[in-house]
Parts: sequence; structure tokens; C-alpha cells
Amino acid sequence: ADESTVTITVVGASGDLAKKKIFPALFALYYEDCLPEHFTIFGYARSKMTDAELRNIVSRTLTCRIDKRENCSEKMEQFLSRCFYHSGQYDSQQNFVELDKKLKEHEPNFVASSGWKGCKSTFLLIDPTKHIRRCRKICASLSASAAASGWTRVIVEKPFGRDSDSSAALTRALKQYLEEDQIFRIDHYLGKELVENLSVLRFSNLIFEPLWSRQYIRNVQLIFSEDFGTEGRGGYFDHYGIIRDIMQNHLLQILALFAMETPVSLDAEDIRNEKVKVLRSMKTIRIDDVVIGQYKSHTKGGVSYPGYTDDKTVPKDSLTPTFAAAALFIDNARWDGVPFLMKAGKALHNRRAEIRVQFRHVPGNLYNRNFGTDLDRATNELVIRVQPDEAIYLKINNKVPGLGMRLDRSNLNLLYKARYSKEIPDAYERLLLDAIEGERRLFIRSDELDAAWSLFTPVLKELEEKKIIPEYYPYGSRGPVGAHYLAARYNVKWGDIGVDE
Ligand code: BG6
Repeated sequence: ADESTVTITVVGASGDLAKKKIFPALFALYYEDCLPEHFTIFGYARSKMTDAELRNIVSRTLTCRIDKRENCSEKMEQFLSRCFYHSGQYDSQQNFVELDKKLKEHEPNFVASSGWKGCKSTFLLIDPTKHIRRCRKICASLSASAAASGWTRVIVEKPFGRDSDSSAALTRALKQYLEEDQIFRIDHYLGKELVENLSVLRFSNLIFEPLWSRQYIRNVQLIFSEDFGTEGRGGYFDHYGIIRDIMQNHLLQILALFAMETPVSLDAEDIRNEKVKVLRSMKTIRIDDVVIGQYKSHTKGGVSYPGYTDDKTVPKDSLTPTFAAAALFIDNARWDGVPFLMKAGKALHNRRAEIRVQFRHVPGNLYNRNFGTDLDRATNELVIRVQPDEAIYLKINNKVPGLGMRLDRSNLNLLYKARYSKEIPDAYERLLLDAIEGERRLFIRSDELDAAWSLFTPVLKELEEKKIIPEYYPYGSRGPVGAHYLAARYNVKWGDIGVDE
């Protein structure tokens, strides 16, 4: 912690994300001594609440890391005493002026104790799209107070619109009052340990980068699955669907990091320049290269699981996909012709996020006969498991020890929990810390967002206009079989099918 001061305002403080992720992450940062010495957290939302009530709600969500139980409750008390609440409407200038006044009331103490002169403020907007006007008001009042001193940064949570046009409108609203470098768009997958590690793996190991191209890589798979449905979030979800919820952002961001060229340096702009280049080199997604699905109710072991449309907040005739698979292509020298397959779904048989890189066959492999007819079995595969149980493993062919000559596919395995004893911080911890420190590397720049939407908007429109019916799959299953046909069209087998370790 340094001498500086920061005020963090959480706009949308009574919502789920704030309770589940934001406040716990801020507390973890406080516990780790990563927040500036003088910090204040303001919750802002419509519900009427006192500071004590907010503290009470927040206190229920705080936990200490297993390896850091010392002084936990004391630290929590100290943290909570820095949390305040102000209730107001999202479109009321007046309410924001009041908030501003309250923020200022906290300033003199800091100035006296630290000699600090500027108001450093981070605002966190949750779900901005519904309230573009809300953004305008907030940004207007922010820029007024920031103009006087210090800086203001605005962290924005998704959804960033639902297509190219609405996203551009949101960006325009933000930019009316903010500069690009004040806007921090969160994609929390970029804050995940193994996603951040992608660049380390590629660029600091000699053995991967030379293989990182169409010459050696046959296909790349980006897989996201959850073993629960949209429970409680149906209202939000129905307006977006899985393609916007997971693919256009989380999986596409991973793809961009995976496929980008070597950046000039690790500076935010250099990295983001490379990501934009990849996104802009991609072919627009064709509807034939997309499969959509929706989960239906299913009874297993006497327990019955609801279908997507059983949710009361979802229209009975909703065609919103809760599963999708897609084939994407990058039209550049490095990746020409290599399918990047994405698969994302809710209410599937497991919870997992991983990147799978399948390598080509060994030309003239002396050991081909040891694999019978299924030569695919003999290819190398690199798996980066983002969650759960973070791991990186490489499937290699190995001789089974003994007098005969039998080959076996084994894993060179880096399992994080076996190698590192430290608990992995939540993605929001890293991202909030970066935003407070002004590090923009892991946030989405406006041109990046535009490029991401240009890729997906046409196919999303077509799916909706043609009212394409999703393939129904039972809750808890592996999802629609259409995903396999799609992969087969490109000579690919999903790597997450079958036994891995
Ligand atoms: C969010 C999506 O962005 O990511 C949710 O809106 C999804 O639908 C969540 O459940 C998954 O995040 P994580 O970190 O739990 O994998």
C-alpha cells in the first residue's frame, strides 16, 4: 500500500455480482495489502439502505483465504468500516451530485494525513446497457469532479450491448464524457490465472512458439461448460443467449490471446493492438458453422431438473440458445485453414473451461501400426484447463514399460494444486487491482469490442430473423449431437469426450 488515496464506487451495489464478486474481491485486495492506504468504498443502488445494512449484507459474503486465516475477523471489521452506501436513482443527476458531495466529505481527512491532493476515483458500473442514460449521468458527474483534481476511471461490466449498433451506442455514451484511457471494460476471463499465463507459455518457452501455426496445429478448441442452468438469471439471459454471454466475449478473448502475433512489448496498447489484428483478420461466422441448443427438463436418479423455459422469467416459446458450437477461421498466414472450434453451454454434465490444441499427425510415423486405424489417437494434444483444477498438460505417446512394444498415450502434467500451494486469486481481484493501478492490459479497448461484435452480429441477426430452432438437450447431458457433426465437417473430434487423465 502506498500513500495515495482512492475512492471506489460500486454502482449497482445491491446486485448479485457486487455481492458475489466485487465486494469479496475488494476485501481480498485489502487483506493482501494491495489497496492504497486511504481507500473508501461507496455502494450506490436504488434500494434504500443504511451504511450498517450494506455492511451487514457485504459481511456475509466475505471469506478469508485458507492460507490466511490470521486476523481475519479483525480485518473484515476494518474493511467494513470503510464501506458506505448511498441510495439513488440511476438517471438522477441530483442523486449523483449528492453522492459526489458525500465522497468529498471523506476527502479532507486523507489530505490532512497524507498530503494527497487529488481525488482518485474508480467507478464500477454493473450492467450498463439497460441504462445508457444512466451512463451519461454518471459520467457527466464524474468528469465534473475529476476535472478538479486526481483521476477518474470507470470500470464497466458486460453486457456491452447486444450487437454492433447497441455496443457502439454505449461506447458513444461513455465517450461523451470519458477518454478511452479512462474506460476499463471487464471481461473477467482475462483475469483468470491460466488465461493470463497463455502469453507466458507461448512467449517464454522455446518449445511452443515454433509450433504455434497451421504448420503443426490441426485445430484449436475453446470449451466452456457449466453443470447448472440459468437459475435466477433467466430474465437477463433470455435477452442475450449463450453466444453473447460466453462466446463473443470470454471465448473470443481467449482465442485472440492464443492466436495473436508476438506483441512489440507487454504494454497494454501493444498487446491490444495484436488482439485487434487477429479479430479483424477473422472470417465472418457463417450460420452453417453454428449449432445451437437449449436444455430441456430431465429426471435422473429420482431428481427432476427444470428445462430452460420452465424458468418463470423466460417466455415459454423462447428460442434463446443455452448451448452453441461454432467454427471460426482466421484468415492470415499463420492460421489459414485451421478451425478454431468453440463450444459453450449451460446445464451440461460438468463445469469446465479449457483450451485444447490438437497437433497434426507425425508424417511417416514409424509407430503408426501401434495405433490401429485410429491415427487421431496418436496425435499430441496440449490442454490448458482454465477451471476447475487449473492445469496444463500435454498428451504424448509413450512406450509402456516392458519387453514388448506397446504404446500408450500419457500426460506430461502440470497440475497447479500439486505444484503451487498458494490459492489462486479470483479474476476480479486481479482486474480491480489493475484498474486501480491504471494497468489496461486486461481490459477491452473500444476497437477490440467493435471487432468482436462485427464477427458475431451478422450470424446472431440471422439466427434470430430466421427463428432457428435450437436442438433440445436434456439437462445434465453432453449437449446436442449437432456439435459433433459440426466438428466432423472439419475432421475434428472434440477432445473433451473420453477419458483424459
Ligand atoms: C459470466 C456469464 O460472464 O460468466 C455467466 O454471464 C457465467 O453466465 C459466468 O456463468 C461464468 O464465469 P465463471 O468465472 O464462473 O466461469
